[in-house]
Amino acid sequence: MFKLLLTLFAASSVVLAGPITPVAFDVYNPKITSPVAAQVWPVGSAQVVSWDLHSIPPSEYEKVGHLLLGFNENDTENLDILHPLSTGFSIGDGNVTITVPDVPTRDDYIVVLLGDSGNVSPEFSIVPAAAPTTEDETFVR
Ligand SMILES: *[C@@H]1O[C@H](CO)[C@@H](O)[C@H](O)[C@H]1NC(C)=O
Ligand SMILES: *[C@@H]1O[C@H](CO)[C@@H](O)[C@H](O)[C@H]1NC(C)=O
Repeated sequence: MFKLLLTLFAASSVVLAGPITPVAFDVYNPKITSPVAAQVWPVGSAQVVSWDLHSIPPSEYEKVGHLLLGFNENDTENLDILHPLSTGFSIGDGNVTITVPDVPTRDDYIVVLLGDSGNVSPEFSIVPAAAPTTEDETFVR
């Protein structure tokens, strides 16, 4: 986890130079409640990423959050810092809706919620969008 935080902060100073002022880490653990382990996300679909506000002090709710996609390979999180899934939302929102990017099929994707701290979701899958048929209408959120 320590390595992850260092990686994330190094990433922040490169990609988000300016608006982010690095400060001491507050120790809280914004547990990601969605996606859950082994969840499947079709490319192009809308998905809600949510986290447990009970684990976060209210003083943190105004903090700007960033949500990154990564995957576990070679003992690193391989976070795609250049293409955040979402930025600029408030930690206090408790969830953010994203559109699944067109990325290769894998079953070891993770999302990382970055506020003052970083928290990693369980591994989940991203799969190709289903071939469009009329039956898929009910599948679209
Ligand atoms: C993981 O390591 C292997 C062997 O060094 C390399 O071929 C592969 O590209 C690495 N994967 C990533 C995502 O960097
Ligand atoms: C997302 O958060 C909003 C409030 O910020 C809440 O009304 C809504 O129910 C949440 N949705 C999910 C799926 O958690």
